[in-house]
Amino acid sequence: MILFFSGTGNSEYAAKRIGRETEDDVSNLFKKIRNQDYTALRSDKPWIIVTPTYAWRIPRVVTDWLLKTKLEGSRDIRFVMTCGGNIGNAGAYLEKLCEKKGMTYQGCASVLMPENYIALFETPSREEALVTIGQAEQKIEEIIQWIKAGTSFPKPEITGKDKHSSGVVNNVFYPLFVHAGKFYATDACISCGMCEKSCPLGNIRLKDGKPVWGKACTHCMACICRCPQEAIEYGKHSVGLPRYVCPKRL
Ligand SMILES: Cc1cc2nc3c(=O)[nH]c(=O)nc-3n(C[C@H](O)[C@H](O)[C@H](O)COP(=O)(O)O)c2cc1C
Ligand code: SF4
Ligand code: SF4
Repeated sequence: MILFFSGTGNSEYAAKRIGRETEDDVSNLFKKIRNQDYTALRSDKPWIIVTPTYAWRIPRVVTDWLLKTKLEGSRDIRFVMTCGGNIGNAGAYLEKLCEKKGMTYQGCASVLMPENYIALFETPSREEALVTIGQAEQKIEEIIQWIKAGTSFPKPEITGKDKHSSGVVNNVFYPLFVHAGKFYATDACISCGMCEKSCPLGNIRLKDGKPVWGKACTHCMACICRCPQEAIEYGKHSVGLPRYVCPKRL
């Protein structure tokens, strides 16, 4: 079974591509995470977890959900991480997570997809994004072949920088950067409620027709990128940048 988490659609696209070609079930973790639903799941096929990369590891909300939820049936599990650059030493942490869950780690593969982190970096135009996704197809194909063959993903070369990024930098990144405090809605807001609906943590509510952000935020970028009016900004950084949602959603 393929389980995915996705803020802006890249990981959803990869998960569905893999699901379609391996004829496996694909399930979105959005509602489970939002509703804090830790009901055990069962699959006789190996588990495949598809997520974005947040600070060179899988998102903490996914790690927490995996730690709390029993995955019954197959003991084999592998990970596919979409990223805008690289996943660092994420695999080492995933291997430990699998040990804790008593599961057999079959590796972690990365897929370079368009950057979605509009709060800190530059996001691509639709045309640029389509080129990057086109280039990612070959890697997705390779991943599908490894899964079909039942072979573990190859182990990547890990540098000291990778260890530093996934270790120290990941630990300081969350407390320093992952806050909703800089989000605000402009006068372009039409009170449609899309931001409230797209938050995987239920961190947004409309007050007098305008979004108000709470303290639980994982910086998935869904609210700001999925607003149909482009009425959400993150401080000054996002002003004028294209909103990113995967243009090839299946
Ligand atoms: C909070 C946050 C942190 C990120 N950290 C990384 C990172 O460490 N390395 C990287 O290559 N991309 C990073 N990215 C980019 C995303 O992982 C990438 O664009 C991903 O494909 C988005 O997936 P989604 O559309 O399924 O949400 C980050 C994005 C966000 C929002
Ligand atoms: S999605 Fe945009 S337009 Fe809709 S309520 Fe939220 S901020 Fe307003
Ligand atoms: S508030 Fe916005 S960025 Fe934060 S978790 Fe919710 S949708 Fe994602």
